[in-house]
Amino acid sequence: MAVYLGQKAPGFIANTTKGVINLEDYEGKWVILFSHPADFTPVCTTEFMDFAKRYPEFQKINVELIGLSVDSIFSHIEWMKNIKEKFGVDIPFPVIADINKEVARDYNMMDEKTGSTVRGVFIIDPNMTVRLMIYYPAETGRNIDEIMRSVKALQLNWERKLATPVNWQPGNDGIVSAPVNLEDAISREKNGSKAWYLKYEAVK
Ligand code: BEZ
Repeated sequence: MAVYLGQKAPGFIANTTKGVINLEDYEGKWVILFSHPADFTPVCTTEFMDFAKRYPEFQKINVELIGLSVDSIFSHIEWMKNIKEKFGVDIPFPVIADINKEVARDYNMMDEKTGSTVRGVFIIDPNMTVRLMIYYPAETGRNIDEIMRSVKALQLNWERKLATPVNWQPGNDGIVSAPVNLEDAISREKNGSKAWYLKYEAVK
């Protein structure tokens, strides 16, 4: 099954390091579902530690994190234990042990050649719609700042119906959607927009 932007997020009930979770129970929250290629790998370890560090920041804006790979629950437990022992970091969010590859296939996260998950990121909105997908190669660690920025941009659009311009950062002006009639288009230029099709709005 292909996953695409704007689609209802494929549902799942899954075994995780925090017990069984059902995606349905996350309705009303933003969810970042992310896959990693394998436990006990260096790049993934750095990502998990950074996601853990920034977990309170994500929670503050109503975002929950869910990790996933096709490793077993025992492998996940041992890796989390090891991260705690070696680096002093607790992983506070659930990590799915998708040993049957069902969730990974539903979200197009599988590299069928290697049998591992790719480095995927899915942002799911509170209505359980897939709003963003990013795939990174195995050798390239994710940019957590960019994931945070993207979820904040989506939240601005959710709350204020504003789009966000290139290199937008939280607090910067948003963009009002294009005018749908001539009168609106003309009034925009009279009211200071340089072009009728591009109107900024301050974000307080
Ligand atoms: C890593 O996380 O370090 C990694 C995982 C799979 C392939 C290459 C690197």
